Formats: sequence, structure tokens, C-alpha cells
Amino acid sequence: MIRSGAAKNIIVMAGAGISTSAGIPDFRSPGTGLYANLQKYRLPYPEAIFTIDYFRKQPRPFYVLAKELYPGQFVPTACHFFVQLLAQRGLLLRHYTQNIDCLEREAGVEPGLIVEAHGSFHEAHCIGSGCGKGFPQDWLREHIFDDRTPRCDECGSLVKPDITFFGEGLPVRFFELIEDDFAACDLLIVMGTSLQVQPFASLVGNVGGSVPRLLINRERVGETVGHSGGFDFDGKRSADSVHRDALVLGDCDDACLLFAEKLGWAGELASLRAAFTVRKGLEAGAGAS
Ligand code: APR
Ligand code: ZN
Repeated sequence: MIRSGAAKNIIVMAGAGISTSAGIPDFRSPGTGLYANLQKYRLPYPEAIFTIDYFRKQPRPFYVLAKELYPGQFVPTACHFFVQLLAQRGLLLRHYTQNIDCLEREAGVEPGLIVEAHGSFHEAHCIGSGCGKGFPQDWLREHIFDDRTPRCDECGSLVKPDITFFGEGLPVRFFELIEDDFAACDLLIVMGTSLQVQPFASLVGNVGGSVPRLLINRERVGETVGHSGGFDFDGKRSADSVHRDALVLGDCDDACLLFAEKLGWAGELASLRAAFTVRKGLEAGAGAS
């Protein structure tokens, strides 16, 4: 479909699985997932670390974790660069990500093509009611890396990066774009997500009934999401589903490398990665001098 030009409005939906090989743990993988490794914070339950009511009372656990996850310390993966290859060819309609690591931006995907459905560290605001004062990223980064809890100089309330916590609404941009995007989508690629969190997961059911959907993931997911019932890999619900829902069970980096190879883009993927390393090296070098 991509080679023949039949797919030129591709939407990618991504989750933490596309960043695990960059060294950022996902949330729910048994053993390695973030939610299985938060004992030191003595949370009432794992998701509390991203829950706004808990954060107002106990902001420290989030800020300690934010220091570990803060953007700028990680290298985009083959998945991120594969998305950039789609974008460079004008085939990417939009990249919907649940991740807050900004690795898509680092891989060069232009922000206009990205919807950070769960926000990101890119901006920060005071959460004091009636205040909402904005704070620049480097002001916040300084506080996080100095282990100082960032507080608003106007009202004294906590300052939080614009990450969507449980109990908060998703960014307006998400709701502004999903309707037209998913109506125009002619190929959906979902990778590295358990599709456990709404409303993001239900987007799988928003594409047209005959639009092909490809899941690239370590485990089968998304068969019971969305109003249309999600993926139907085995054609249980209707015979024609078999021709539109495809499953690649395995590592998403390997799958994207294979995908690029089959499309004749392997060389470009390699040079994108090499160019990133050179750029980062130069920046680091410039910083050192
Ligand atoms: N290759 C393929 N799949 C992978 C890889 C990999 N290298 N690493 C992990 N996975 C799969 C896991 O098997 C799992 O199905 O990716 C999925 C990751 O799922 P989660 O850990 O639940 O992460 P995600 O789906 O992004 O979580 C969604 O939950 O806590 C909230 O807001 C947070 O955005 C997050 C949301
Ligand atoms: Zn304030």
C-alpha cells in the first residue's frame, strides 16, 4: 500500500513500548515496567504518581521520577526515526503519542505532525486555581535537577509540567484534530502500547471500516477497545476484518527496521540515526568547549 502510493494519510498511534529500547521503562510490562518499580515512593497505588489529587498532596515522588525521565538524556529509537521517514515523504498525516519523552521531536518529526495526547515536559504551568501562570522549561528543569520543588512565584502553588495526569483532561489539540484526522486516515499503525488508557485507546475504532490497521507490539492488545470492538486479527467478528487488521507480534524496533528494509528505506533510516548521533556529539562538544 505504501509502495503503490495507496497509503498517503498514515496515522501512527504510539505508546511507551517505542521508547523502551532508548532506556525509558514502559508502564505495565511485568517486572521491568515503571508501575512495578515504584516501591521506594510508598505510593497508595502505582498510578498515584501521575494522579493530580495525589500530586497536590505529595509532589516529591513525581519530581524524583521526572528527573530520571527528563527529556534530553535519551536517543530516539528505530521506531521514532521510522515515523520521521514517513513524515519526510509526506505520508504521515499525524503521529499520536502517549509518551511524554519528546523523542519524536528529537527524531526530527515536526511538531505540527505530532499530537502529544498525554502532554509533555515541553511547557509547565502553576496548578493554583485561578492562577495557571506559565513557566519556561529551563526554569523547571533547574528546579527538578536541583531537587527543589517548583512553586509559583505569584501564588505559591505547585508548578507542574504540562503532562496529562489521571484526573486531568487531555490537551485541547487532541480533541481539535482527532475527528478530521481519523476520518482522512488510510492506514493506521499502532505500536508499543497496551491500549489500556482512554480516550486514547478508543481511537483505534475511529478509522473507516475498511482502513487497514497494523499493530506492532510484544503482546496482542486492543481487541476489545473502541465502539467498533477494536482489532479483529482472526476475522472472528467479520470475514473481511482479516484483510484489514494485521498483527506483528515482537519488538517494535526490529519490526520498523524490517518495514524500512521492505520499503527500500533502510539506508535512509541508518543515515537519520547517524546524523542524530553526529548532531548530539557536536552539541555536547560545543557545550564542553
Ligand atoms: N517492542 C514492542 N512492544 C513493546 C516493547 C518493544 N520494545 N516494549 C514494550 N512493549 C509493549 C508492552 O508489551 C506493552 O503492551 O508496549 C506496551 C506498553 O504498554 P504500557 O506500559 O501500558 O504503556 P502505554 O500503553 O504507553 O501506557 C499508556 O498509561 O500510565 C499511563 O499516561 C501513561 O501514557 C501512559 C499510558
Ligand atoms: Zn500561581
